[in-house]
Amino acid sequence: MTLCEEIRRRRTFAIISHPDAGKTTLTEKLLLYGGAIQTAGSVKGKQSARHAVSDWMELEKQRGISITSSVMQFEYDGFCINILDTPGHQDFSEDTYRTLMAADSVVMVIDAAKGIEPQTRKLFKVTAMRHIPIFTFINKLDRDARDPFELLDQLEKEFGIGTYPVNWPIGSGIDFKGVFDREKRQILAFGDMHKGQMKLDSVKCDITDTAKLDEIIGEYSRKELVDQIELLDGASFEFDLEEVRKGKLTPVFFGSALTNFGVQPFLENFLKMTTEPLVRTTSSGEITPEDEHFSAFVFKIQANMNKAHRDRMTFMRICSGKFERDKEYFHVQSGKSLRLSQPQQLMADSRQIINEAYAGDIIGVFDPGIFSIGDTVCDKAKKVQFEGIPTFAPEHFAVIEHKDSLKRKQFVKGVQQIAQEGAIQIFHEPNTGMERVIVGVVGVLQFEVLEYRLKNEYGVEVIRNNMPYQFIRWIKTPGVDVKALNLTSDTKWVQDFKGNDLLIFSSEWNINWALEKNSGLKLQEFSKE
Ligand code: G4P
Repeated sequence: MTLCEEIRRRRTFAIISHPDAGKTTLTEKLLLYGGAIQTAGSVKGKQSARHAVSDWMELEKQRGISITSSVMQFEYDGFCINILDTPGHQDFSEDTYRTLMAADSVVMVIDAAKGIEPQTRKLFKVTAMRHIPIFTFINKLDRDARDPFELLDQLEKEFGIGTYPVNWPIGSGIDFKGVFDREKRQILAFGDMHKGQMKLDSVKCDITDTAKLDEIIGEYSRKELVDQIELLDGASFEFDLEEVRKGKLTPVFFGSALTNFGVQPFLENFLKMTTEPLVRTTSSGEITPEDEHFSAFVFKIQANMNKAHRDRMTFMRICSGKFERDKEYFHVQSGKSLRLSQPQQLMADSRQIINEAYAGDIIGVFDPGIFSIGDTVCDKAKKVQFEGIPTFAPEHFAVIEHKDSLKRKQFVKGVQQIAQEGAIQIFHEPNTGMERVIVGVVGVLQFEVLEYRLKNEYGVEVIRNNMPYQFIRWIKTPGVDVKALNLTSDTKWVQDFKGNDLLIFSSEWNINWALEKNSGLKLQEFSKE
């Protein structure tokens, strides 16, 4: 296969959801279709998802890499598919957001009984920044669900995107009869035989075959369906692939991942509609995936947590060309050449050394401590530099100090290194140094990981005092005198270690106050610096 053919058959997407919506179940069913796993339960099980913090540390140590974020690759119908898992539950962290930077499209799983939930909201916001295709899988139709029109309405109103239902559910819960395929104008009937089976021939029936429809789904459901379809065809958005590609229109699929109903039609339509690896922007213009020169950027760094070996694993998204093991590449930020001799590809719970990989793929490499989030690695013959990865707003803050003043040096080193990896964000009050560091995180587990690592890797015990703030904004008004701003008493001015001014707030009300009382004040939720 030529380089272009290899690249064009790649599809790299992230799968996002609020915990328990069915992300793991759907991923597993997709992997089963691809033959990548043989049995259900091979993907990160609930046991590991529901672990206590101490178990998490143990698991991280045993595997040496993150169990909380993995990339799964499988083949289906000539496509080479990379699924990026986005950790949720108590593992939710900035990594979850950064993973979205490595994807070319996103699949959003929504529980049909619950609609949009908080974590989906957060992840959607970050996805929308990139204007990439977003597909929606509304799951658990075998349970009582909310009205499908209401679910679409919520997506449109809350997320400001158009929806295009590719199929339409017929009832839900014990009355779930199947789905109507809008393109084929056929129904696909749901039966007891769906319980988890794979390539099952569902009963199909044309929407105009009234007698047969009555036999399969009953007269009542048939009439209801015909009415709903009429309404849908008249009122819903037209399908427009261009709009899908820009992330303005989300194709919506209804199904039940657990019973494997609607998964294969989803996969097939998704592959038809989603994009091949996308063009990426560098400081010297765009680079196409088919460019013969290799380039990649770092989106995740995972410390080994092994006291004896300070090595870390760095995950890169290949943006152009072909990666070859042991070839000499260029690390832009250090200006040094390097060879990556043990590149790994991850598959569910195992990993293997690979010799080559292509634009669209994700590789993990051992890192002696040279990489930072957002770094570029590229071909020596064509040096490019990717735009950095944004810094996402932390939602939990704490002041940390070292218990033993003799350990100051180790404390400073540890906190700085861990922040450099992107595992935490650090701030300080203006005119203070590294004595009292304000740590900001997206998920509270990150605090515990920080304490654990400072103690185990740097021998430093810390005192942590949680702060009551939940929101942070970068001040983007040039030359602003922060001291002169009119702010509520529970708004705090802090700086990051690059000297940028920020405000931390305890409520959204306080943010609005700051904006209303200080005309011209510009606040930003994500930072590109
Ligand atoms: P997550 O990764 O998004 O957190 O969700 P996960 O797939 O783990 O699913 C959460 C729960 O919902 C699981 O049940 C799973 O079996 C169930 N589930 C997923 N898809 C469907 C579906 O289409 N229909 C129904 N009825 N249930 C579904 P659990 O009891 O919490 O865990 P388990 O013991 O089954 O693993």
